[in-house]
Amino acid sequence: MSLTKYRVGIVGCGGIAHFHGNNYNRFDDFEIVSVADINREAADQYAEEFFVSGKYTNYLDMLEKEDLDVISVCTWQGTHAEITIAAANSGVKGILCEKPMAINLGEADSMIEACNHNGVKLVVGHQHRFEAIYTEARKLIADGIIGQPLTVTRHIGGGLLNSGTHMIDLTRQILGDPETKWVIGQVERKTDRYERRCEIEDLCAGTICFENDIRFMLEIDMPPPHINNICVHGNDGILTSEDGKLKILNSKGGWQSINPVSDGEDQWSEFLAWLDGRINTHRCNGKQARYTVEIMMAIYESVRNKGLVEMPLKTKESPLSMMISDGTLPVEKSGKYDIRVPF
Ligand SMILES: NC(=O)c1ccc[n+]([C@@H]2O[C@H](COP(=O)([O-])OP(=O)(O)OC[C@H]3O[C@@H](n4cnc5c(N)ncnc54)[C@H](O)[C@@H]3O)[C@@H](O)[C@H]2O)c1
Repeated sequence: MSLTKYRVGIVGCGGIAHFHGNNYNRFDDFEIVSVADINREAADQYAEEFFVSGKYTNYLDMLEKEDLDVISVCTWQGTHAEITIAAANSGVKGILCEKPMAINLGEADSMIEACNHNGVKLVVGHQHRFEAIYTEARKLIADGIIGQPLTVTRHIGGGLLNSGTHMIDLTRQILGDPETKWVIGQVERKTDRYERRCEIEDLCAGTICFENDIRFMLEIDMPPPHINNICVHGNDGILTSEDGKLKILNSKGGWQSINPVSDGEDQWSEFLAWLDGRINTHRCNGKQARYTVEIMMAIYESVRNKGLVEMPLKTKESPLSMMISDGTLPVEKSGKYDIRVPF
């Protein structure tokens, strides 16, 4: 335990904020002292549930009055950048911002810049990185259990920025966080689809090429079959997952099943260690999350440019928003709807 308690403020008091609250409360080192939500009722309910005295409907007032050390940004993704930047400039030591980090690359860059400028430790909520199956997969692949990785495939539903962010982040994690070389992708948006108030596509697919020419094939909301397993092919085997276990096939023999063992850390224990200065970084730091934002935006940019997008991506705005505004992606079935927070 560190000598001081970190004074925590929560911005956005909905579903994921409860997950944050329960996790901060596992540690004596954190104390949730105030909350902010544009919805007064949500702030009141949360404050009552977590025995918090400070309640605000404007997070800027909270930042000004509460002398906070740590902020959790648990609002809809379109507000992550604005709140993170304001928190970084307010003098906090650490920020745990929910995923997706931002809705365009320019925002992600501004968040990192504000945190670097103020010496603030920025973590993005890609907490699945701590799951045993992913930490074990990373270790096994690094040890060469399937030789040199060649391809990875992942499928998921729920939107590129919402669910795809986890898939991209986890794929980078198991491959040892490689650099990205290029991206090509396709998007369909025939309905006026939103997710937590931000425009999203109906479906999309992309191929991402990492360093060492590892290809990652990603499908989001595509027609079935939906295969949820991790699947990595290497030049000496296959690594896949089933029922919480890893399955390996390589030249040493038939399929073997591995029960993954956690490395004992989680998003909050590592955040605390980073804040205390006991470690130098966090596996979900803002720089890692920026790679994921860049890849997602490059999938959209590939549609806009009708071709392969070489990294680094230069476009700072969301190419999806640009295409919606300029009529490149006309809606065929009118009627605005949100898959997470109904209008
Ligand atoms: N890491 C994960 O696995 C995971 C899981 C679920 C949600 N999330 C992310 O968490 C974020 C929130 O999702 P949720 O499901 O909790 O949403 P939610 O709708 O349940 O809660 C969001 C809350 O933020 C409040 N809010 C919105 N804008 C605000 C602002 N400017 N200032 C203050 N409060 C504001 C809303 O009133 C609402 O109460 C999203 O970015 C989502 O992608 C992450």
